[in-house]
This record gives sequence, C-alpha cells and structure tokens, in this order.
Amino acid sequence: MSHEEDKLRMSKLGEELDYHSHKYYVENSPEISDFEFDALLRELQELEERYPEYADPNSPTKRVGSDLTSAFESVEHRFAMQSLSNTYSSEELGEWIDRIVREIGEVEFVCELKFDGTAISLTYENGALSRAVTRGDGQRGDDVTNNVRTIRSVPLRLRGEDYPALFEIRGEIIMPYASFDRLNREREAAGEPLLANPRNAAAGTLKQQSSQIVARRGLDCTLYQLAGDNLPFATHVENLEAARRWGFKISDHTAVCRSREEIERFIAYWDSERKNLPYATDGVVIKVNSYAHQRQLGSTAKAPRWAVAYKFQAERALTRVLSVDFQVGRTGAITPVANLDPVQLAGTIVKRASIHNADQIALLDIRIGDMVYVEKGGEIIPKITEVELSERDEDSRPFEYITHCPECGSELVRYEGEAKHYCPNASGCKPQIIGRIEHFVKRKAMDIEGLGGETIELLWENGLIRNISDIYYLDPVQLAALPRLGEKSAANILEGVRLSKEVAFERVLFALGIRFVGETTAKYLASHFRTLDAIAHATVEELSEAEEVGKKIADAIVEYFTSEENLQIVERLRSAGLQFEVKDKMRESNALEGKSVVISGKFAGMSRDDMKALVEKHGGRNLAAVSANVDFVVAGDNMGPAKRQKAEKLGVRIIDENEFMAMIAAADKIESSDDAQPKEEAHPAVDKPIQGTLF
Ligand code: IVH
Repeated sequence: MSHEEDKLRMSKLGEELDYHSHKYYVENSPEISDFEFDALLRELQELEERYPEYADPNSPTKRVGSDLTSAFESVEHRFAMQSLSNTYSSEELGEWIDRIVREIGEVEFVCELKFDGTAISLTYENGALSRAVTRGDGQRGDDVTNNVRTIRSVPLRLRGEDYPALFEIRGEIIMPYASFDRLNREREAAGEPLLANPRNAAAGTLKQQSSQIVARRGLDCTLYQLAGDNLPFATHVENLEAARRWGFKISDHTAVCRSREEIERFIAYWDSERKNLPYATDGVVIKVNSYAHQRQLGSTAKAPRWAVAYKFQAERALTRVLSVDFQVGRTGAITPVANLDPVQLAGTIVKRASIHNADQIALLDIRIGDMVYVEKGGEIIPKITEVELSERDEDSRPFEYITHCPECGSELVRYEGEAKHYCPNASGCKPQIIGRIEHFVKRKAMDIEGLGGETIELLWENGLIRNISDIYYLDPVQLAALPRLGEKSAANILEGVRLSKEVAFERVLFALGIRFVGETTAKYLASHFRTLDAIAHATVEELSEAEEVGKKIADAIVEYFTSEENLQIVERLRSAGLQFEVKDKMRESNALEGKSVVISGKFAGMSRDDMKALVEKHGGRNLAAVSANVDFVVAGDNMGPAKRQKAEKLGVRIIDENEFMAMIAAADKIESSDDAQPKEEAHPAVDKPIQGTLF
C-alpha cells in the first residue's frame, strides 16, 4: 500500500474504532466481537508505529495509557466549577421550589441523579478532546487529560457536526460497583489497604501517575452539564440530548418536571430504585431547565440559585449485636468490632460493624443482644449509629469494656487525650509484632514481594522471625523447608529481601513503623535530617523544626529511639545494608536549596519537565501553584495570565529562563543565602477579569 492509502486506512480505522467503542461503552450494544475489535485496534497500532507523524493524539489506541509518570499541572477553569447547595428535607426543597416559582412564574425543572464520584470538566476544541480538568478549588483544577483519555466512555472525537467549536462539558467520573469490587479484591490479595468507597476510588484513580493503571481500573464517565458561549439550544435538556448525539454518555434517568409533586415522585422512585443501579448515587439534582431562567436566577458566591441537590438519607439497617470482638492493631490500639446478625445493606451483606472505642460504646449504650441501626459511612466497615431501645431485653446489662489484652493478657492502658485503649506489650503481643512486620514489607514501605500476611504468620509460627530485622537474616534452607512454601517461593522472598536493601531512606523510615510517622512525615523528616542517625539523636525541639512535625510526632520519635529493643533492631538493619541516609545521586549543586519554585509556560531551551528536573538537581522544590510559599516563578512563553497576576499580587519574584540558567550556572561559586534573591516590590492587586458565565 502507498503512504497515502495507509494514511487513509488509519483515519478509517480510527473512525470505525470510535464507532464500535461508542456502541460498546456508551450504548451497551456492541455490534462486533471483542476479538474483531482488538484486530482493528492492532492494525491501527501497527500503522501508527510505522507512521507516527500521522498518529492522532485522540486515536483510540491512546486509551491504553502510558507508564510515563506525570505531575499534574494546575490549570484555570474557563468557567468556574461551582458546587451545589444541598438539602436533606422535602420541606426545604419545597421552599426552594416556591422561591423560584415566585421569581419566574411557571417553570420547568429537570431532575437528574446525583452521581457519587468525582467531578470533571472536559474541553472539546473542533470536536476533539483537548483537556480534562478536575474540580480542584472550583477556580483551578489539575490537568488529568492523559488519564481521562483512557476512560472508554469519554469520546475522544465527537460525532456529527453541530457541536460548538469550543465548549466544556462537565460530569462525574465514577467507578461502577463491579470495578470497585474487583479492585478491592486485587488489593486484598496484594495485602494493600482497601479503598473505602467508589467515590474515593474514582478520585484516587484519576490522580494516578501512570495512565496505564487508570486504564485498567474500569472507570466510567457520565456528563450532566454544558458550558460554553455558543451552545446550540436554549435549554439544559435539549443540550444534553445534543451531547448524547455527539457521543457522550448522558444518563437516561432524567425527567422534566413541572410541579413539586412530580419532583417528589422522581425522588421517591429513585430513593428506592437506586439500589438496583450498578453505580453509587447519593441524591437527586434538580435544575431549572431554561438558560434564560438560570441567568435570571443567578448564583451566590458558591452555588447557582437555579439548582439544588436533594441528598438521600444514608441507608441504614436494623439488626442484632451478637457479640463484640477486640482487634489489636500494630500500634497496640484496641478497636471493638461488633458481630451482627447478618443483614442486607446498600448492596452487601453486613456481618460486622466497628464501634471505634470504649467511649462510643458508653455513649450509645450498646449492649450485647441489642437491636441496633447500622449505616455505611465513608469507611469500609459500617458503623452502629443508634440503639433501638424499644427492642431491648429487660434483663440486658451495660457493656463492660475489657481491661486486659485479648491476645496477650497484658493490662490495657489509656494515654492522655486518646480515646482508644492500648496494649503496652509491644514486643510480646503477637498481632502487634505481625502487624509491624506486615507494615514493614508493604508496597509503600520496603515493598518485599512474596511476604504477605500468611507467610509472615508462617515464619512467626516456626520461630524464624520475631521482629522486622530478622527478615534480613533468614536462612534459605530453613525457609525452603517450611510447609506450604517450597524452594521457588523461598527464592522469591529472598530476592525481594535483597532488592529491598536499595529502597530509599524515606521509605525505610516510614517502614520502621514509628507511631504517627506516616509516608508524608517520613519524607519531610528524611529531607530535613538526611540521615537516620540525625533523626535518632535529635531532641523534641529539633525534630519539631521539620515540616509537619509537631510535638506529638516528635515525642513518638524520641520514644522510639529510647527503646533498647528498637535500637538493637535498627543496628541489625544497618548491618544488613539498608539505606539509612538520603542518596543524592542526582544533586548537582545546592543553588536552590530550600527554595520553592513554580515553572510555568513554554521554554525555548528545554521542556517544562526538564526544567523541573533541573530545579530538583539543584536542591529546589517544584510547586504546582503560585502561593505565598513560592520563592520565585520561572516564566516561559504563554505563562497563564492568572498565574502571573497572582505572583505579582503576592510579590513573588518572576524570572525568565535565562535568569534561571544563570542562577544555577553560578551555583558552585555562590553560597546560597536567604537574601541572595530579593523579592520584587509587590504589584498592586488586579482583579481577575470575568471570562464568561456558565451557560
Ligand atoms: S450539576 C453548577 N448534576 O455534585 C452545578 N452535579 O455537590 C454543577 N454531581 O460538583 C453541577 N451528579 O460533582 C450536577 N447530575 C448532576 C450531578 C452533579 C453529581 C456532583 C458534581 C458537583 C457535586 C455538587
């Protein structure tokens, strides 16, 4: 085939694949088999490899994502993304309707489901997806275009011709229950913490650094609002219908209502029917249909007056408390968990509910045998919210909280200001030890493959490990001889252990499991102190100088390093060869030490990412947005006007590429000092121009 023919074939394949994707992911009615679809996709992929110059950035092949990591750029919304005012009561809803009817007269409302995911704004230019931005603070959000491209129900190119040359469409990225359950099953198998609900899962997935991961997570996207200056119709529903024709996924569960009764009927229907939907919803959004009426009603600072969200009551179920168990966490914290008579709640059968602590039991006066209401909040395990006192047995007795550890029998203690009881036997209480080892090996810590919860328990039971340092002194022969393990798994574990010796210091610090030292705190501590010895010898005051470290964390660190047992463990880890200090392989100078920098715009000499890498190589820190904490902004061409204005308003210094290069070139000669870069005079504040309205 000639070049020209290949080029034509590529565009034809793109169109066909778009068509079949829409059939499959939006309409749920595929016309060809997965096999046929894959064959077309492969053909296009091959052609794109041969002719990268003809490849469209919105080609269906881009849906698989890439493993390039990308920091998200903070960008300004063309039209602010407002939120909605909420109501839980039908009375308040009635007042809202009355107010609108008083102001407008007869009016059409549109009732829609309130999808429980994370908001997104998509920009289309000449029918092609050009940008996808999260809500952020409503004015600025993160540019997550590469991740959103992988969501198959988001059209990359529009159908038909009557779409405006430039417009935005807003909607919700959701994770259907099926994808959510699959993801949590995978996480459970990998020993990773479970995601609390589909909303968090959708939001977290969208912020993944690798779009390949996003592509695998099964997100979906429903659109419910258009914004632009040239929308084809004068009402919300007509534009939604047009958007459906252009290829967007628009909910079928929408109704035009003309009275309070009709609205109430819609709400009542979906309050119960939503339990049969394959995704989470948390209410109904009621909007005024006509854009002219919307304009007339206007907005408050936060939300439009022409729309309101009626939130469904959280689902709850009534069931009996059969018994209460006490779980011991890795820090020794005791958590009471109620065992319940199994009951159906929001799509799953609930058998257990958390009660948090002794105070909560006393507050709700929960007793064994009580009938209680359970609700699903943001957490994975539902919680008990109320006791149904009318069903209480006459001879029931107040619950007596345990005084001793259910695992090791030690007397429990209660620290000042903490609601939980603790088992103080850190070195002798099995779930604490196993919990600490599980924490140590997990992915975000030492990432030792092959060492899951069960294997750790096996090693413990056979006396091979007593604490985290024993992991580095395992005997290969003893390991392979363990029941259910075998040589292959043993070799895997040993390889994982060997590789973990290269894990960066900040993660080693996190892995130690010092109370309150989470991932972020560990990062701040590592970059402030640079070595474990410096942290171990620091006083509470010195520790508190690191970012985000307060007295509580500092006390916990000092306490950790006063324990003789911990010091021994640390020494054994040191001998095993773990990273105990920050490795600055890349550091070229300290010219930007302690400086926070924003890189913005396009640069003649190099890409923005390379500029950012330079900042880090010279000891600086990249920040995405301009704030008072920023030392200077390096401005390239096309730097956003809003960013510039903000920098000027805050008196943050703005320099150009040449000045920046000169700054780091002179690095070796200059000892960085705080007044080496005086801030410019602050410019007078300039109000942001109004860029359009949301219609
Ligand atoms: S309209 C200015 N419609 O709810 C109004 N929002 O609590 C723009 N949401 O940020 C939003 N379903 O993320 C609208 N059918 C729907 C919605 C919906 C869910 C979300 C959206 C918004 C939040 C406000």
